Parts: sequence; structure tokens; C-alpha cells
Amino acid sequence: MTYRYITTPIYYVNDRPHLGHAYASVHADIMARYLRAAGHQVMLLTGADEHGEKIARAAQQAGEAPAAFAERHARTFEDAWRRLSVEPDRFVRTTAPAHARVVSDCLTRLFEAGEIYLSDYEGLYSVGQERFVTEKELVDGKLAEDKEPPVLRREPNYFFRMEAHRQWMRELVLDTPGLIQPVQYRNEILKLLEEPIGDLSISRPADRLSWGIPIPWDAGHVTYVWFDALLSYVSPLGYPDDPAYRHFWPAVRHVIGKDILRTHTLFWLSMTHALGIAPYQRLHVSGHLLGADGRKMSKSLGNGVDPLEAAQTYGVDALRYTLIREVSFGFDGIISHAVIEQRLNRDLADDLGNLAARTLAMVTKYRGGIVPAPHDYEAREQALIARAAQLPALVLALVDEMKLGRAAESVMEFVSQLNVYVANSAPWTLAKDPDASGRLDTVLYTVLEALSAVANLLSPVMPGKMQALRALLGMAPAPGWEVRWGDAVKPGTRISEGILFPKRADAG
Ligand code: MSP
Repeated sequence: MTYRYITTPIYYVNDRPHLGHAYASVHADIMARYLRAAGHQVMLLTGADEHGEKIARAAQQAGEAPAAFAERHARTFEDAWRRLSVEPDRFVRTTAPAHARVVSDCLTRLFEAGEIYLSDYEGLYSVGQERFVTEKELVDGKLAEDKEPPVLRREPNYFFRMEAHRQWMRELVLDTPGLIQPVQYRNEILKLLEEPIGDLSISRPADRLSWGIPIPWDAGHVTYVWFDALLSYVSPLGYPDDPAYRHFWPAVRHVIGKDILRTHTLFWLSMTHALGIAPYQRLHVSGHLLGADGRKMSKSLGNGVDPLEAAQTYGVDALRYTLIREVSFGFDGIISHAVIEQRLNRDLADDLGNLAARTLAMVTKYRGGIVPAPHDYEAREQALIARAAQLPALVLALVDEMKLGRAAESVMEFVSQLNVYVANSAPWTLAKDPDASGRLDTVLYTVLEALSAVANLLSPVMPGKMQALRALLGMAPAPGWEVRWGDAVKPGTRISEGILFPKRADAG
């Protein structure tokens, strides 16, 4: 049994999820589904990052207690994932007592080991990013991703000796080329690690911020939100003693956005090293989604697409497909209503949906809706059969590198090949010739069986629609993987007609 652990970022629950959140979660979910289909024992984790100033402020503005506010929004996130077909195995909440226990234990251990000390801190603090920032990072007095400039703060903080782990981290990143992907982010971190990174402030005075996990030996301070949140990757596994932790760690892939790259490298790697936790296996770093205006999608700019509305309008599977196809993981890219509609109409309705609809209609018309048995395969069928056999391994290799768009693209190229095959084989002409009856059977069967392979290969991306396709093909409801040619669609089975992807005509 091989174990794979996949995590999304643990989201700040100060609002409803937006498309940027959906982008990370959908990628993680699709990877989890592929690995599960390939036979791995998979755990997918997502969750709610409920502590910190950001949440405390948002709660105050809403006139609610932080706990009630965070609880309400955590549920909104859980519900949103359900509606986007993101199916986590665990949903961690940083307010859960089991999580708080792990955080307290880790702090105590590090304090006793001399990894934590008290000192005065003066610096610029970004509430938006929940971290102290350096002058170098500021453009026009603020961080690019923040609305407000950072504030100057002088206060006693506990510090974690992060700098002491810098050389180790540098060697780890140098020795493990695949640790941070894609490579541009690895390079960015290697550059940062060449210079001193300083120690990490890991507490806030409780009289300023009480919404957090108390520092176990000093009630005057609460734990810094990132120190708390990063440990939520191990606390739901029952760290340090539970078998789940032993199985799933460190076979982990963290899926994150580029704005939280530093915290997931400098902070998290040094923390794990100090705690004796093996470093994660891989960090998959995404770029940012941009609105139709080419600027980073955000609520304040109003240039975003609401993921739940989009799922309602275009169908959840068309949205999932667009997210992975349209913006290559690791790079920035635009997602707008027009883009989703185009993907739905062209790729899904015209190419895949139409292939299925035409084929099923021909089986109904020429063979009474019953799957015919194939006769002799010619070279063109042999080529398709060979391609269908290669695709599962090819797709998995791309998935392993989080190149989900390329994986889906390779399946869609196969769909195009099938469309060409149907056009060239002209079943409608064969149907007029009684001597070509065997040939017609073979052509129809070939497309049906190839469509069943497509249904399996795209099921992790579009679980609902591909299940519907399997049902139309008269296949077993559960998806298969690496199915032998001839084993999926059985001659003599009844198929049904149906439209998988209704086209949308009202661009807007
Ligand atoms: N709570 C922290 C993560 C802690 S992980 C231990 C956090 N939360 S967040 O809700 O602000 O952001 C979560 C993720 O959403 C980040 O990976 C971020 O990159 C991603 N996105 C937010 N806006 C985005 C886009 N416009 N595009 C793509 N992803 C973006 O940070």
C-alpha cells in the first residue's frame, strides 16, 4: 500500500471562498482523485485558519464574537467545497482542541530545547498577510497584495530561532530538486536563503490580540497565526503518535499559492526541522488568477468570478475543467466568464459532448441502442487502441508534476483523434451498405470503448459528467483505471442517448 497525503492551504475564514481559493482546492482534489484511481491510499486535507488578527478584525466589524464568526465561515467553506465537488477526507479547524494541543506541545518542546526566546520587536506588520514585513518588500509604502500599508509595532514577542536552520534548509532545497515546484519558485527561495533570514516572531501580546492559542508557559501571549496554521498539516493526522501520521507523513504534497511561498518554506521547513518532523515531499506552488482586466482577482477590485455562481451557471465540471486547462499551474492567468463559456462550448460541448451524442445517436439509429460486437480491427483502430493503452500512464506522469491541464489536454487530443476517426470512417455511409455491416459494428464499438476510456481518464476532473457518460454507455457506475480494451463497454448492453454538456449561447 502506498500512501499519499495532499493538502490545500488552510483558508482564512473571514469571507466566502473566492475563485483563487477554488483554484487551489480544485487542483488538490483532482490530484487526489487521480492518485486514488491509480491505487494509492490518499488523504486529502483542507480546513479553516481561524485565529489571528485578520479574523479577529473581521469578526469585530461583523459585530460577532470571533469564535462564532469563524465557525459560521468555516461552514460556508465546507459547503462551498461540496458544491465544487471537492471532497476532502479531513477538514481541520485551527480552533479544534486536538489541534490546539499539538500546537501547545510543539511550543513547549521547542521552548525547552532553547529554540524559542523572548525579545522586543520593532517592525512593520502587515495585517493582510499576518506577518512582519521588510522595507525591501514594499512598493509605494505597502505590499502589492495589501490594501493598507503595514503598521509600525514595538512589542515583546517570543522568537523562534529560524536563522539557525537556514543552512540546513538551503542544503535541503539544493539536494532535492523537486521539493519546490515549478522551478522558478525554488530559485526564488534559494536566493532568499543565501542571505540571513532572521528569527521568526511567533507570539503576539494577549492584551492586543487574545484570539489565538495561548503560549503555554506565558498567559500574556498568544501564538502567532502562522505557527499555529502550519501545524494544522500534521495535527489532523494525529501527530506525533497516530498511525495515520506514520502512514501519510512525509508523503505529502502541499498545494499553495505563490503569495504564501515564504511561509511554506522558511517558516514551515525550519519548524519541522526543529521539531524533528521530516520535511514535506513536495510543495506545488500556483500563480495567481487574474480578472478580465488582467489584475489579480480580488473582492475589492470586483474583477473576480464567484466560484459558486460560475458552478451554477456553467456546471461545476465545466468550471473545474476550465480552472485546470486555462491557467497552467505555477503561472498567472485570466479566468473570466467568457473564458469559462468558451471552454464549455468548444472543448466540452463541441468536441467531447458532440462526439458522445453523435455516437450514441448512431448506435440507437443503426443498432437499436445495443452495443455491437467489433469485427476485425484495421490499422486506424489499432492506432486508437494503442493510444488508449498509453494514456493512463502518460496522464499520471503529468498529474505527478501537477500539470493537470496538460493531462486533460492529452485526453482531449485523443477526443479530437476520435472525431477525425468518425469523420473518416463515415458510419452514416457504412450504414447504407449491407456488406459494410461488420465494419459499422467495429467503428461504433471502437468509439464507444474509446469514450469509456475518456470517461475514466477525465473522471477526476469532471466526476459528475463522466459518471453520466458512463451511465449513457451502459458501464458500471464506478470509474476504472487502466481498463483493458474490450472490458469496459460490453457488446449486447443497452446504451442511452443524452446531452452531456448543453451549450451556452448567451455570451455575457
Ligand atoms: N491561511 C493562510 C494559509 C495557511 S496554510 C497553513 C492563507 N489563507 S488565504 O485564505 O488567504 O489564502 C489561501 C490561498 O488562496 C493561498 O494559497 C493564496 O495563494 C490563494 N489565493 C488567494 N487569491 C488568489 C488568486 N487570485 N489566485 C490564485 N490563488 C490565490 O493564506
